[in-house]
Amino acid sequence: MESLNRRNFSKASLGSLLTYSLFSSLFEADAWGNEIQPLAADFLKDMNTLSSDLKSHKISQPDWQKRCESFMEKVELADFMKFINFEKLTKNLKPRKKGESSLSVSFPEVEGLPTRLIYGRQLFALGKGRSVVPHGHYNMATSFLILGGEFHGRHYDRLQDGDDHMIIKPTIDSTFGKGDFSTISDFKDNVHWFTAKSNTGFIFNIHVLNIDPKIKKNGRVYIDPDGEKLAGGKIKAMKMKSTEAHHKYG
Ligand SMILES: [Fe+2]
Repeated sequence: MESLNRRNFSKASLGSLLTYSLFSSLFEADAWGNEIQPLAADFLKDMNTLSSDLKSHKISQPDWQKRCESFMEKVELADFMKFINFEKLTKNLKPRKKGESSLSVSFPEVEGLPTRLIYGRQLFALGKGRSVVPHGHYNMATSFLILGGEFHGRHYDRLQDGDDHMIIKPTIDSTFGKGDFSTISDFKDNVHWFTAKSNTGFIFNIHVLNIDPKIKKNGRVYIDPDGEKLAGGKIKAMKMKSTEAHHKYG
């Protein structure tokens, strides 16, 4: 039987919905009544094991993406947002005029969740029309989970690298709402660009850096997807400085 998660909940029949509703109510009563370990801690712990496996090359980067997405699909958002103290974190926040604000996220100490985690995490906050500007990554796997608002999200495969440009190909172009997610690695969907369509938008980000210690390139590289159109839907995207990218797309 297909598992009951957020995604297929929305596709469920009325009968299944009623069953789910009953199940969910019982579960919530247990979760909040008896203070069982938050599901969020399990998600973050599983992500740590997964990211540790990635760093030790037990799994490939695309495998990390697939499994990370399967974890994010099952995250219970209300529980997770409570766990990271989302309300307090975002209270009185003034979005930046360009680009995103990056808020540091701390997790409460709970049994079973290591205090030192393999991955970094942050919360991006954006005002309407502001963007996490188009950029690619080197030697890094990362995930976005939308915690609030609506975004226009685009991804591209990074097919080739030149000194001053990248050859990219669009892979995802979609509206992302609360609970939606996407992932990145050196091998798949490496470039992303997210623009807030609602008054505010929030993205929880997990990132694993320096996957291969032999590779010297790290971090972000900004590009301009509005470049020369090539055969097969490819684009020659010129590399940009951060200030340029934020001026044009932020
Ligand atoms: Fe990124």
